[in-house]
Amino acid sequence: MRKEFKRYLVTSALPYANGPVHIGHLAGVYIPSDIYTRYLRLKGCDVISVCGSDEHGVPITIKARKEGITPQQVVDRYHELIKKSFEGLGMSFDIYSRTSSATHAETASAFFRKLYDAGKFIERTSEQYYDTEAQTFLADRYIVGTCPKCGNDRAYGDQCEKCGSTLSPDELIDPHSAVSGSVPVKRETKHWYLPLNDYEAFLREWILDGHKEWKSNVYGQCKSWLDGGLQPRAVSRDLDWGIPVPVEGAEGKVLYVWFDAPIGYISATKDLTPDWEKYWKSEDTKLVHFIGKDNIVFHCIVFPSMLRAHGDYILPENVPSNEFLNLEGDKISTSRNWAVWLHEYLEEFPGKEDVLRYVLCANAPETKDNDFTWKDFQARNNSELVAVLGNFVNRALVLTAKYYDGVVPACGELNDYDRATIEEMAAVKGSLESNIENYHFREALKDAMNIARIGNKYLADTEPWKVVKTDPERVKTILNVALQITANTAIAIEPFMPFSAEKMLRMLAVDRFDWERLGATDLIPAGHRIGKAELLFEKIEDDVIQRQLDKLAATKAANLAAEAAQNIEDQKDNISFDDFQKMDIRVSTILTAEKVAKTKKLLKLTVDTGIDQREIVSGIAEHFTPEELIGRQVLVLVNLEPRELKGTLSRGMILMAEDASGKLRLLEPNEKTNNGAIVG
Ligand code: MF3
Ligand code: ZN
Repeated sequence: MRKEFKRYLVTSALPYANGPVHIGHLAGVYIPSDIYTRYLRLKGCDVISVCGSDEHGVPITIKARKEGITPQQVVDRYHELIKKSFEGLGMSFDIYSRTSSATHAETASAFFRKLYDAGKFIERTSEQYYDTEAQTFLADRYIVGTCPKCGNDRAYGDQCEKCGSTLSPDELIDPHSAVSGSVPVKRETKHWYLPLNDYEAFLREWILDGHKEWKSNVYGQCKSWLDGGLQPRAVSRDLDWGIPVPVEGAEGKVLYVWFDAPIGYISATKDLTPDWEKYWKSEDTKLVHFIGKDNIVFHCIVFPSMLRAHGDYILPENVPSNEFLNLEGDKISTSRNWAVWLHEYLEEFPGKEDVLRYVLCANAPETKDNDFTWKDFQARNNSELVAVLGNFVNRALVLTAKYYDGVVPACGELNDYDRATIEEMAAVKGSLESNIENYHFREALKDAMNIARIGNKYLADTEPWKVVKTDPERVKTILNVALQITANTAIAIEPFMPFSAEKMLRMLAVDRFDWERLGATDLIPAGHRIGKAELLFEKIEDDVIQRQLDKLAATKAANLAAEAAQNIEDQKDNISFDDFQKMDIRVSTILTAEKVAKTKKLLKLTVDTGIDQREIVSGIAEHFTPEELIGRQVLVLVNLEPRELKGTLSRGMILMAEDASGKLRLLEPNEKTNNGAIVG
């Protein structure tokens, strides 16, 4: 039996305040949650949507240290940035809070204390790495060393980013502290653990038996965690940034970020309304967590166990989670700057908030990882938003203005085609609702767009611009129907594209409709005067897209160079001055250059060394064309043992520098010099 709920509490994963939000976050969590909430509000449901910044955790302290500022300064900066950019995209959270707030510290402390007092934790002492120089315990991330699997000498104590292996600090070869560089020692420390193993039976029954309707990626992850067996998890850390463990003798210890952050949903609700308890403590509330797939275990296993241990709060009814969005074929990465950042998008595409919302929903990674490409962004804008939605709305409004001076004509008798069109439009409602309620937002968006499509086709088929010459009465009916479909479109797209919906309502000069009116044909009364038609969407040209692609290409090049720069080869063994003196290097001019037939890499050059003119065969054909070499002065090692290469006796070697990416450069004297000049 399906449960009936009286109200909804929608949460969206709290973004870490250590970097801006990108399209991966949006497609995975925030766009779906906003569609869902806006829909419920339109339906008149009692719904609140809470979010906020996740401001604790080791990465924030690392970032602060790197930039020489305090963790508070880091989170202040990103909290503001994220909050503002969410607003810019039309995210309609009822509150965007933060976990460094006083309410949160109090709520999370009380939560911990209640579990502590009820004996829900176990205390354990274990050995952890300690930096004696910096006098601090080291989180796994703070320990660097050589990866035992791939040899990367900058692997972290929890993970090697080069080969992707999960590591423990004990596996690192040559571990040292990222804080001071010193070699850490093992030291005993006490922590509190939530024995997740005690909650296994509860979780199995609640999820595996009770929530088979959860998305298969979510359900599957839960099942594999539960089948693997749960272990006690530490809920405290040795760190100086976070909420102090509210227990005597816990100096220098804070709540683990994944313990405090989800409690942030509760604190945010408290900050939103004095009536917060009805949302958190009543079985009549439907709690829905929107999260990314890397958050599943925390929201489906850990947090529910905490809630269960606490006892006062409800459990989530669903935890819709998407897969990951890639960007132009590569994994989105904050550290490699491989992302489309929301705040930058908003600056670079003002007025196009809905385009991003549309594309990210239409292409959301609902069942598998998906790719965002700028070409697809452009194509969806031009051929769907402009050509279908924008075109339809514009035609309906412009024709009404032109034929009736903006006054809605009365609807005459409907013919079969009109009726079929109206029926088709009205039928969308059911599908649209069930798709949203079941978290199938891509399909839901298709439904909403279908209404515009139906309208577009209706105008194309009925051709009022032609009929007006022969049967002006008929045109009144056609445009009345078209305007009703326009109003329906405004209702249907509101959850997805709120800016455009609002603009449409303004152009129609009407107030917002209730969701229940969707499908109706009396939304705009005859005789009503509509407003001025404006373009809803505009075509995005190639050069705009190219600029974005160029920006990404520059990022890629910079990443390659940075990576290569880290891989500078070690210095070779020392040589004596005599050894050096044995090399005879001369300034020479390249006289001729040609490709060596049937080879890819070889060029045959004639050079004037000042001593003579000679031939040199050089493996640089993939780096230089013959034309760009002829006439250049270069440095040549002239006393290298001659060598026969492809039928030519090569006498000497042109000196080159190989840059970080493997590209070759010529070494030229900084001024023209006589050939034969000695280098040394
Ligand atoms: N900050 C986490 C992330 O970005 C999400 C935290 S969700 C919460 O992955 F529930 F813990 F708040
Ligand atoms: Zn590795």
